[in-house]
Amino acid sequence: MPTKTKESMIVGNWKMYKTLAEAEAFVKGLTSTQTAYLAVPFTLLQPLTKIIPSHVVLGAQNMNDASEGAFTGEVSARMIKDAGAKFVILGHSERRTFFKEDNAFIQRKVERAINEKIEVILCVGETLEEHEGKKTEEVLKKQLLESLGKVSAFDLISIAYEPVWAIGTGHACDPEVAQNIHHYLHTLAPKVSKILYGGSVKPDNAAAYLKEKDINGLLIGGASLNVESFDKILSLT
Ligand code: PGA
Repeated sequence: MPTKTKESMIVGNWKMYKTLAEAEAFVKGLTSTQTAYLAVPFTLLQPLTKIIPSHVVLGAQNMNDASEGAFTGEVSARMIKDAGAKFVILGHSERRTFFKEDNAFIQRKVERAINEKIEVILCVGETLEEHEGKKTEEVLKKQLLESLGKVSAFDLISIAYEPVWAIGTGHACDPEVAQNIHHYLHTLAPKVSKILYGGSVKPDNAAAYLKEKDINGLLIGGASLNVESFDKILSLT
């Protein structure tokens, strides 16, 4: 069972925010020298590789499952890798909800990313209705096992537990509740070494998650857009 022996993984998810000028200002303002992962819009990958310090790792927020083809508007694993992505977020709840991505599609993307040796952060999380209906474990198990499929390259996979009701709402999951869920997820996927928590993480609640035994890092949306708040969270690791 993974423990807290390794440094916590702190990941910023910029979603559909920031022009190049805004991203450059963010990178210039970063004072922390802790390893930081930044999942940026496709358009920022290549230009940011030229200006990021060596402790910042760039990644993408999505990709297509096909190697290439006539898929207007889509971006492949090889393309994000070519543009400088070392990792990719897959199965984020915004992709599942707004773009109707299902576990089978996400599973094909996981396989494709791994074939390209791109690290994967696979997101799982229950809705408020499922949470209130006490279906959390059942929902997470299905999402996780179906999205992982038969992959075996566990060194390239991290999981992010992001309760849908906590994303962007200011209603973060209680750290002890999250700890129990992380423990459950670690038992479902014992070979995955990092399970991150995400959902309304801010500088003032981040430490409470990081001290929990089975929470191995954080996936941060809103608070990663502001360099001072992201810096503060990084300084806690
Ligand atoms: P939030 O987003 O930190 O703004 O809640 C988290 C995420 O969507 O990854």
